Amino acid sequence: MRVLVTQEIDPIGLEVLGEAGLEVELRGGEEPIPRQELLRRLPGAVGLMTMPTDRVDGEVLDAAPLRVVANHAVGVDNIDLDAARSRGVVITNTPGVLTEATADLAMALILAAARRVVEADRFVRAGRFRGWRPTMLRGLELHGARLGIVGYGRIGRAVAARAGAFGMEVVHTGRGSGLPLDELLATSDVVSLHCPLTDQTHHLVGEDQLRAMKPTAVLVNTARGPVVDEGALARALRERWIAAAGLDVFEAEPEVHPELLELDNVVLLPHLGSATWRARRRMARTAARNLVAVLGGQEPPDRVA
Ligand code: DGY
Repeated sequence: MRVLVTQEIDPIGLEVLGEAGLEVELRGGEEPIPRQELLRRLPGAVGLMTMPTDRVDGEVLDAAPLRVVANHAVGVDNIDLDAARSRGVVITNTPGVLTEATADLAMALILAAARRVVEADRFVRAGRFRGWRPTMLRGLELHGARLGIVGYGRIGRAVAARAGAFGMEVVHTGRGSGLPLDELLATSDVVSLHCPLTDQTHHLVGEDQLRAMKPTAVLVNTARGPVVDEGALARALRERWIAAAGLDVFEAEPEVHPELLELDNVVLLPHLGSATWRARRRMARTAARNLVAVLGGQEPPDRVA
């Protein structure tokens, strides 16, 4: 049984696949597999391990006798789940194992954007530090500030736990004790996004929402780029409808809205949420175990569809 892995992963994943007796085709390298190459390599494969950069749609699913697509990510917005369901292809993801890493990175962005860390680093490197000044590079103090978490799942809760230790007041959207989004946006000092990308969350934060936020507010996105209207955000940052932003994800990755690149009040990271040694190792192992389970006729631990 042949399985295709579309990019270099932690070796533990390949070990798990090999130990299960699967014939593994690894498309090595650090670049995403081009679409045409994916379609060319697929015929004959019964399993596919995909990255968030691989779009899996009907054409991909029809290119091979696939029984399972194991996404090496928790988000599955790169996969057409209905197309998979209608073809009987099982889809799995890697929940849980990247929660803490992603929550850490959200905190890093909250701190960096609130305290202007990257801007200050550039300031020093540019030779502009000429001594301590009472008015220099002031930012938002987190203690006592209100953090609004949009999407209160595993990662949102892990960020809330960290924020509590910083003395932040935490509110969130959602059922139960959750606030409506507009109230959360209007009253939060920091807004951190942790919802999946779906038809309902596409451009959840657009011009109207940004205008409703405090002019001192910080927006952090470690979820998915299209949850935010990037053009509107660039305007909001330039015209100071909000104070700052920290972004780990972009609307059309790896493209970044050109105006964002010009702005000092936004911190930009290349989709690093789960990029710790530990999380990436566990993601590779989890994705491999899911593949092995399905091909062995068992229910996979992390079935999405
Ligand atoms: C995910 O798992 O969905 C991340 O965005 C990739 O680490």
